[in-house]
Amino acid sequence: DWNPGNVIAEQVERIRAQVGDARVICGLSGGVDSSVAAALVQRAVGDQLTCVFVDHGLLRDGEAEQVEQDFVASTGVRLKVVDARARFLTALAGHTDPETKRKIIGREFIRVFEDAAREVVAEAGDHGQEVKFLVQGTLYPDVVESGGGEGAANIKSHHNVGGLPDDLQFELVEPLRTLFKDEVRAVGLELGVPEAIVWRQPFPGPGLGIRIIGEVTAERLDVLRAADAIAREELTRAGLDREIWQCPVVLLADVRSVGVQGDGRTYGHPVVLRPVSSEDAMTADWTRMPYDVLATISTRITNEVPEVNRVVLDVTSKPPGTIEWE
Ligand code: XMP
Repeated sequence: DWNPGNVIAEQVERIRAQVGDARVICGLSGGVDSSVAAALVQRAVGDQLTCVFVDHGLLRDGEAEQVEQDFVASTGVRLKVVDARARFLTALAGHTDPETKRKIIGREFIRVFEDAAREVVAEAGDHGQEVKFLVQGTLYPDVVESGGGEGAANIKSHHNVGGLPDDLQFELVEPLRTLFKDEVRAVGLELGVPEAIVWRQPFPGPGLGIRIIGEVTAERLDVLRAADAIAREELTRAGLDREIWQCPVVLLADVRSVGVQGDGRTYGHPVVLRPVSSEDAMTADWTRMPYDVLATISTRITNEVPEVNRVVLDVTSKPPGTIEWE
């Protein structure tokens, strides 16, 4: 009989046996998998675990707080937060090409995480303990997809914590390796991980950086965050979170159109709503969502976000369109 309590008990035993009294590090992204993996390891070895959360400033409204406050409050995890927002903005300045932006974000992420990992290792060394283990939220489908091999080669290339340097040799702890996504969610809920994290829809590692079409700036991030928060709030209110796989909100930052808002003519930016239905993100269909919900989202965004004067709906399936615009 599968139940999350048994999985937790079994994994806690295995993690303790693997780790002993060594120190463990885990990169948190705000997503389901890394959060549940961290909560499980925390349950097993407590303060031997240090989590590292790199705030790259490309998360949506409330997500950094979910990790920094809610996750810590519910799990008691020892957390190192690295505020790298300025660093990412500087690195991204002037860049508009999607692949270049992705590469920059990936590269900066690894550098910041490496530095943080080195600090954690150094601090642990002061207490005479070695950091030997790295937690990964690898799920069963990831294992199957990559041929079931062992070790670091398994880390997907898009994974946030790929490619650690040679002088940081970690053994992997992968407590979710036998689980499917719905089982990971059940385990997370049982461990008390906040529902907003457990039920979070897929969100790309490069975050809002690939949802601003054009250069990423602090002002544009604020505009997109505000529009995105409204869309998410209304989709949740309408009870559509489970029906919709994910709904990227995309800011066409280099496009302007004429509008009338308030007392006069405006020359603002469009945002695109990209609601999709999917089983696995390999293919997707645009979601035929209710017009009245679309209307509410459109009205609220154009009323509450002055820089946006037009809301458009993406009615393209995948293929030919990818889910993300970049
Ligand atoms: P596309 O745009 O390729 O997206 O249709 C498929 C799914 O993958 C997510 N995605 C990413 N996830 N790092 C991630 O962790 C990435 O670089 C990345 N790019 C896309 C996307 O949100 C969708 O769920």
